[in-house]
Amino acid sequence: MASRFILAVSLASCALAIKNPLIPGWNPDPHVLRVNDTYYVAVSSFLSFPGVPIYQSQDLGNWELVSHALNAPEKVPIVGVRQDHGNATNSDQGIWAPSLSYINGRFYMTTMAMWGSDTVYRTFPRFFWVSSSDLQTWSEVIWAEPYGIDPDLWQDPNTGKNYLSVMGLDDNRERLWGISQCEVDLDTGKCGGTGTGHRVTIARSDTPMGPWRSSPTNPLLYNGADPDLTVGNTGHAMFSDTPDGRWFATFLARRWIGNDNPIGRECFFSPVEWREDGWPVMNYGEPILLSQEYDYGPTPAYPPAPWEDNFVGSQLGLSWYQLRTPYTQNFEVNPWGDGQSPCGSGGGGIVFNPNVFTLGERDTPAAVLHKQTSFNMTFSATLLPINGSLGRSQSIGISMYSSEYTHQDISIRGCVNTTSAIQCVRVDSSIQLPGPAGTPSSKEFPFPYDHVPAGVQLHVRAEPTRYRLGWSVNGESIAWVHQFRLRDLPVGFDGAMFALFASGNSLPWPLNAPQVGFCNVREEFFEEGLGDYR
Ligand SMILES: *[C@@H]1O[C@H](CO)[C@@H](O)[C@H](O)[C@H]1NC(C)=O
Ligand SMILES: *[C@@H]1O[C@H](CO)[C@@H](O)[C@H](O)[C@H]1NC(C)=O
Ligand SMILES: *[C@@H]1O[C@H](CO)[C@@H](O)[C@H](O)[C@H]1NC(C)=O
Ligand SMILES: *[C@@H]1O[C@H](CO)[C@@H](O)[C@H](O)[C@H]1NC(C)=O
Ligand SMILES: *[C@@H]1O[C@H](CO)[C@@H](O)[C@H](O)[C@H]1NC(C)=O
Repeated sequence: MASRFILAVSLASCALAIKNPLIPGWNPDPHVLRVNDTYYVAVSSFLSFPGVPIYQSQDLGNWELVSHALNAPEKVPIVGVRQDHGNATNSDQGIWAPSLSYINGRFYMTTMAMWGSDTVYRTFPRFFWVSSSDLQTWSEVIWAEPYGIDPDLWQDPNTGKNYLSVMGLDDNRERLWGISQCEVDLDTGKCGGTGTGHRVTIARSDTPMGPWRSSPTNPLLYNGADPDLTVGNTGHAMFSDTPDGRWFATFLARRWIGNDNPIGRECFFSPVEWREDGWPVMNYGEPILLSQEYDYGPTPAYPPAPWEDNFVGSQLGLSWYQLRTPYTQNFEVNPWGDGQSPCGSGGGGIVFNPNVFTLGERDTPAAVLHKQTSFNMTFSATLLPINGSLGRSQSIGISMYSSEYTHQDISIRGCVNTTSAIQCVRVDSSIQLPGPAGTPSSKEFPFPYDHVPAGVQLHVRAEPTRYRLGWSVNGESIAWVHQFRLRDLPVGFDGAMFALFASGNSLPWPLNAPQVGFCNVREEFFEEGLGDYR
């Protein structure tokens, strides 16, 4: 043990050590796959569109978002699906627990659609997969037969037969959960014979049909014994090897600040070693500490460099998401073409087609969302100048969002109560638990213009202790008008996101209402100051 730590420390000094989280921001249920010299990680997307992000790395340290396996609305069947009540009884629905496989020279992404787990409605998660030769063009959806959760497609290298392994139910009455698998037809989703294994952390068998034996090294990973550890909720591991034969795992975990975890479940890394008796050990049999470093690859810059999006080109950047299945066209990127943007030279912009929905409804508002990836960061958005005034039902703003029940919005909008101004800065704060889409509490502040001039910015300041919302004009000092606690943003299986939105707030956006949108978004990152213990 001692020699290993000395090695890790000496490598850290030349910035050759992986640190956790491996992929910050909510990136749960990571499933790692290595093909040749390249690593791929697919993660759950729940209610975000496009679905199932795929990250790629050559060195295990630096990860780039390269694709989404569910890249068309008709492949993400989650219209009207509920998010979360901010309590553990109701978990997030949507697209869960993807796996990646490489079979006969093709990538397969297998996942499940959760429409609800309500025993009254008797809806059950359904499995499906899509495949691709290049991770850019994806096939149509193939639906599979069994029900359950956490599907994985794999090919037995000895027989060439393909199997679908799932955490399944024995039947719909007893509802006993266990790992089961069947031989499967990749083109139709039809299952052949089924074998059922034990409910264990890791098990092995000489054949895919069992019998199975449980590992003496179980549980392989468990941070739950010490509730004071910053890293908790470890689980959902997937093993891979490196081209030179070393083993590691990706898994999910939360970083806790006291009892709060708005960022959600992130993608983590652990070394894996195989004992002489053939059973694996994760993280040297120890709990995961944030200070640990692993000599498997380079250390990315920390804090990360600022991130900026000027919405140039005609496509939205890969790291933006919409909610649920976007069945209407909710925005356009740089509709003016090169050099014509009102955002100035070199700029583009995003223009919304606002609809009747807000972030508070179980639908698809005109909004794009970006994952919070640090506990100490800023998110600043510059508005498109508006030629004309907004009515009291028309809003353009940003939000700190965790579900339709829990989000804090700051927007520019026609004033409701303020007689001294035409346009107001308005804060809508929805922390309601649980219940129907809550009526947020609102406050408004006079805005010193009758329109939105160039250079208006809205800001979120995310800190380890609180969030603040504010606004500024032309880089002058920020007026912070609202603050709230981390616990006001409870998360379920996904995590907090910053949102840009425009809304008619239950009324259609009038044909003669002004065009609204954003010129630019910028995020800046600072030291988070988190230790091994909360
Ligand atoms: C992996 O390498 C094999 C053999 O060189 C090649 O046929 C295959 O296309 C490669 N796959 C990927 C995804 O790079
Ligand atoms: C959690 O949600 C369930 C179902 O809506 C509800 O019955 C329960 O009261 C909620 N619990 C809390 C602590 O809010
Ligand atoms: C603003 O709108 C008015 C009325 O439609 C128009 O006359 C004017 O040219 C517009 N100004 C700009 C800067 O687009
Ligand atoms: C307007 O005033 C009413 C009555 O005081 C209050 O309930 C409401 O929250 C106010 N709305 C805004 C946007 O300030
Ligand atoms: C967060 O960042 C700010 C700005 O750089 C810094 O002053 C503060 O110390 C950081 N907080 C922690 C907990 O490190």
